[in-house]
Amino acid sequence: MYSKTKIILGKTLSFKQNPMVDGLEGSYSFLDTGAVFIKNGVIEKVIDTQGLNLPADAEIIDRKENLILAGFVDAHLHFPQTAIINSWGRRLIDWLNEYTFPEEGKFHDIEYALEIASRYFDICLSHGVTTSVSYGTIHPESVDAFFTEAKARGLRALTGKTCMDRNAPSYLRDSAQASYDQSKTLIEKWHGVNRLGYVITPRFSPTSTPEQLNALGSLWKEYPDCLMQTHIGEQPEEVNWVKELFPTSKDYLDTYEESGLLGPRSVFGHGIYLTDREKSRIKEVNASIIHCPTSNTFIGSGLFDMKGLSRAGQKIGLATDIGGGSSFSMLKVMATAYEIAQLRGHALHPADLLWLSTRGSAEAVHLDKKIGNLAPGMEADILVLDLYSTTAISQRAKQSKNIWELVFPTIMMGDDRAIKDVFIKGEKWLPKVK
Ligand code: GUN
Ligand code: ZN
Repeated sequence: MYSKTKIILGKTLSFKQNPMVDGLEGSYSFLDTGAVFIKNGVIEKVIDTQGLNLPADAEIIDRKENLILAGFVDAHLHFPQTAIINSWGRRLIDWLNEYTFPEEGKFHDIEYALEIASRYFDICLSHGVTTSVSYGTIHPESVDAFFTEAKARGLRALTGKTCMDRNAPSYLRDSAQASYDQSKTLIEKWHGVNRLGYVITPRFSPTSTPEQLNALGSLWKEYPDCLMQTHIGEQPEEVNWVKELFPTSKDYLDTYEESGLLGPRSVFGHGIYLTDREKSRIKEVNASIIHCPTSNTFIGSGLFDMKGLSRAGQKIGLATDIGGGSSFSMLKVMATAYEIAQLRGHALHPADLLWLSTRGSAEAVHLDKKIGNLAPGMEADILVLDLYSTTAISQRAKQSKNIWELVFPTIMMGDDRAIKDVFIKGEKWLPKVK
C-alpha cells in the first residue's frame, strides 16, 4: 500500500553511544535544522535540511523551533497504582499495606481495570511516554486491561501479572501453581501480539515463597524471550526482611538466582542497597537495574549510585515507578535523578539524562533495536518538546548558548505543557482532553 513520506522538521537529537560511559563527545548527534523522514511508521532517515529541497509529495510537519527526540521509555511502574499516586507518608512496607494493596485489590473487576488502564495511557502519553514497562496486579484481568488499552492506541507496551503467595492480604494472594498457570495463559494470549510483550513478574522476594519463585523460574525457561521483572534493594528494612525470610540465601539477589530468575533479561527495580557481590553478579550476567528517582525520594528510600554503577558498566534504565513515584513526568524523573546524583557529588549532564530516559531505558528492557532513538529502521515513536513552555522556562532558555543549556531548564522545570506532540509509529497522538 502506498503511504506518503512524513517529514518532521526541527532540532533533532539522537544517540550513538552512552554519554555516561563513552563520554559526551561523539555520543550524540544534534541537528539544529534537522528532519526526520518517516515511512510506514518507521524512521527512514534523519538528515540536516540546510541547503536541501524537501520532496514535493511528502507531508511536512514544521516544528523548527522544537526539539525532536525519541519518545520516553518508562522502564518500571505499576499502572494499577495510578489512582493512589501521592498517598501521604510512610515507608515502603506500610505504604504497600495501607494504600497499594487495597487499591490493587480492585483489579479483579475488568471494568475498573480497563478504566484505570485507559486513564493511565492517556496520562502517560500526555507526558511523552510512548513505551511503559508496567506491573499488573495479581489478577489476569489487570494484564488483559493493560494490553487491550495499549493495543487500541498502537503502543509498544509490556506488563505481567504480579505474583504473590505470601505476606499480602488473602485477596491478593495466589499460589505457586496458579501463578505459573495464569502467567503461562497470559503469555500465550498476549506475548508478541502487535507491539505487546509479556514480563514474568514476581513482585519481590518478601511476597513470594521459594516454591513460587521456582515455578516462575521454570516458566521463564519455557519462554526465555520474555523479560523477568522484580524489585531489589529498595529500602534497608526490606533487605533485612529478605534475610529473615531466606536465611540460607547468599543475599537478596541470590533469592532470585536460586530459582532461575537471574539472566540477561532480568530487570531489577531500584537497586539502591546492593552488596558488591550483587553488583558484580548483575554485571556479569548483564541484567538491568532501573533507577526510580522520584519514588526513591518520595518513599524515602535513598540515593541511587548512578556514577558508580554506570562507570562499572551496569545496564541502567529510568522510570517513574508510579504510584511510589510522585509524578507521571519523565522530565520530573530526570530532574530528580539530577538532584540525587548531585547529593552524591556527581553532576549528570543533560545528555546523560536524555539518554537514560530514551535509549538507556530501551536497552535495559531489550528494545533498543526497535525504539528509544531517532535512527533509520526504528519505530517512529517520537516526541516533540516545546523548550519554551512556561514563562519561567522560556526566560532561562533564551539565555542559552548551546542545545544542552537550552534543554536543561525544560528537564528541570518542565511538565506535560512541554510535550508539544507525540507520534506513535508516525501517527500523531491526539489527546482526549489537554
Ligand atoms: N516493592 C514491592 N512492591 C512495590 C511497589 O509496588 N512499589 C515500590 N516502590 N516498591 C515495591
Ligand atoms: Zn515498583
